[in-house]
Amino acid sequence: MFSKLSNKNYFARKTLESLHAEGARQEGGLKKALGWASLLSLGIGAIIGAGIFVLTGTAAAKYAGPGIMISFLLSGLACTFVALCYAELASLIPVSGSTYTYTYVALGEIFAWFIGWNLVLEYAAGAATVAVGWAGYFNRVSQGLGFSLPPQLTSGYFSYLSSHGSSTGGIFNLPAAGIILVLTGILVRGTTESTRFNNIIVAIKTTVVLLVIFFGANYINQDNWTPLIPENTGEFGVYGWSGVARGASVVFFAYIGFDAVSTAAQEAHTPQRDVPIGILGSLVICTILYVAVAAVATGVVNYKELGVPDPIALVMDHTGKPWVSWVVKIGALAGLTTAILVLLFGQTRVFYSMAHDGLLPQIFAKLHKDYHTPATSQILIGVCAALAAGLLPIDILDEMVSIGTLAAFSVVCVAVIYLRRKFPDMHRPFRAPGLPLIPILGILFCLALMVALPWETWVRLLVWTAFGFAIYFFYGVHHAKRS
Ligand code: ALA
Repeated sequence: MFSKLSNKNYFARKTLESLHAEGARQEGGLKKALGWASLLSLGIGAIIGAGIFVLTGTAAAKYAGPGIMISFLLSGLACTFVALCYAELASLIPVSGSTYTYTYVALGEIFAWFIGWNLVLEYAAGAATVAVGWAGYFNRVSQGLGFSLPPQLTSGYFSYLSSHGSSTGGIFNLPAAGIILVLTGILVRGTTESTRFNNIIVAIKTTVVLLVIFFGANYINQDNWTPLIPENTGEFGVYGWSGVARGASVVFFAYIGFDAVSTAAQEAHTPQRDVPIGILGSLVICTILYVAVAAVATGVVNYKELGVPDPIALVMDHTGKPWVSWVVKIGALAGLTTAILVLLFGQTRVFYSMAHDGLLPQIFAKLHKDYHTPATSQILIGVCAALAAGLLPIDILDEMVSIGTLAAFSVVCVAVIYLRRKFPDMHRPFRAPGLPLIPILGILFCLALMVALPWETWVRLLVWTAFGFAIYFFYGVHHAKRS
């Protein structure tokens, strides 16, 4: 999955027919190294991360209370609709490039740009979000071992944005930025060891999640689940059903990553079969795990106490068995590490496709002469993500990731409807059932989750989009390869 790229331009003629044929002939310079089990592992590797280990606590404490279990179900349902659309597109166009490529062939260049730009929020900002979660667990582990960083170096300067304007004293979140730079170094080398590394850590984090569920279940106090949905405070999104909806938008982040499987479509042995299994399988497994973890977390500890950087470790502390808490902390660190790795990897592959199409400078398509990875691009992305992780708080990052990704996912659903109408006879190894209902539900769920986010997040999205279109009109329009 972290295999090397060749300089061959797959997208010389970017039409649906050419890409479809390209994928079907299984050409291209990428190694065909991945079976469905590896894709499932890649999916779970990307999905389980800060969402479950950190944001479950934040969202339960601030917005949904124990109703966070319902939030996880709602978000999982939204992702299932989108995943069915994704699986159809991934099997129809089995080349790397993710949502960006699908949108390009389905809806054209300008929509593709919008999606590619929003995918920066999903992948690069997503990596920064997970890194901040990673730092929360890292700090707790290092305190347990008897050494602590000064508070100025454990949270970012802009953390006051999420603490009602009062300064947290943070300047730069050093562990968060540091882990991104270390993983960037590993990805620049782009060795096949990365696949093995990913598989081992996926196994560890799944085991830890199961430990939390089965061990923690013995300590549930059902009084903590009453009321299941705390009464709304009068403010939209703070408890009540609007809080459950906002909670769903926040923990939506926990599901991001299932689409990372589609970015590896071209490296699959049999994309038409393996990619749908990878995407849908990883989503179903994670939904079950998430609802169970949310039930344990809010059952063992009162939801009001869960708004800490390492809520799942806190839950395990309540069991009075320090060894479990330690295993969970170390497992969470391992789990968060692979999530960052896959997101950083995904970002370069999207930029690689965009640069091939001329929408981004060629530096993003340039491969390192020895490592055959997009090393310069990887380093640039790593530095930007490290700065974001070093300076910003987790909830601002998370909400930006959610809103940008939800926007991209709605376009995927539109693309499926459009392509079915335009090319009804094209061979689709995997067909999303119940068209057009499923994609329409996907669009409605995504929009509803976006609406539930705070208005400040919408303003940030508009600024981000405007900035993106400025780059497109000043650069992309003039350099795009449209032959
Ligand atoms: N779904 C991934 C996470 O929760 C991005 O960290």
